[in-house]
Amino acid sequence: MKERSSFATVLLRWFSQYGRELPWRGIGDPYGIWVSEVILQQTRIDQGTDYWHRFMERFPTVEALAAASEDEVLRLWQGLGYYSRARNMHTAAQQIVEQGGFPRTIEGIHALKGVGDYIAAAVGSMAFGLPAAAVDGNVYRVLARHYGIDVPINTTRGKHTFEALANELLPQEDAGTFNQAMMDFGATWCMPRSPRCQDCPFAETCDALRTGSVGQLPVKEKKLKVKERHLTYIYIRHEGMTAMRRRPAGDIWQGLWEPLLIEDAPLPDLGCPLSLLASNVKHVLTHRVLLANFYLAEPQSRPTLPPEYIWIKEQELDNYAQPRLIEKLLQQLP
Ligand code: ADE
Repeated sequence: MKERSSFATVLLRWFSQYGRELPWRGIGDPYGIWVSEVILQQTRIDQGTDYWHRFMERFPTVEALAAASEDEVLRLWQGLGYYSRARNMHTAAQQIVEQGGFPRTIEGIHALKGVGDYIAAAVGSMAFGLPAAAVDGNVYRVLARHYGIDVPINTTRGKHTFEALANELLPQEDAGTFNQAMMDFGATWCMPRSPRCQDCPFAETCDALRTGSVGQLPVKEKKLKVKERHLTYIYIRHEGMTAMRRRPAGDIWQGLWEPLLIEDAPLPDLGCPLSLLASNVKHVLTHRVLLANFYLAEPQSRPTLPPEYIWIKEQELDNYAQPRLIEKLLQQLP
């Protein structure tokens, strides 16, 4: 536990020397601090500072913001993007005025529209000294490196791990300064690329520096991007028979049966019109979303098909095991 408390000591000493001077620091006004945090959720400090000054000039108090029209709030927000954040902030300002003042507990701040864990802790600690760690991307990075933690930060387990550690490190009596020091340290020293490890105050204790894994931390879990796959099926009907094939190995639905499949290719000429029975039917598999079109063709003679297709009696279709999607499509047949 000694090491835990010395982390804060080293960080706060660093902050007293290198911390940034930002206009909302030390103002003690929860409204101004809250506005700064909402703006900085999506903007770099230099651009965000300009917006903050303009916003605070036009709406110097939460009452002024609550009384404004949404249009004017949005106009002032123009260029920042994420307009729902401005709308939420406007609504929250009205909530605050209705409640008779800015809430003074983490739960109360969290209950405001658009306020999540991070902003509640940031505003609560900086405005009221409430002991809550504000965990943003900077904090994940600093802690992952210093403590050599490779739990992916974009998972529930990661969020819990880093929040618990940050709260353990947090000096109860100086939470606001600690939170801002973490942000500044992450933003100006322990940066994502080319961090300043040579003159880092934690060089002696940083696990990642010792093991050479600064560049590998923090870890982010790659989210499998769900790919879309477009399938077009043509049900061919000729004298009570239809063509089906068994799906090959090495792909979805191995061994199940399906009608003529066209994938990534133009529709074939089967010597008759195709009637569309269903389009863009969505079918969700674990790592894929399938979108299927389904046509009926009733040619005068049997078309030539690739050799794996066999002709079967329509009445005997049920004897051929089919994927759920195909069953669904076949229900559309007249
Ligand atoms: N980024 C978001 N909020 C911040 C703050 N209060 N200080 C420094 N960087 C920040």
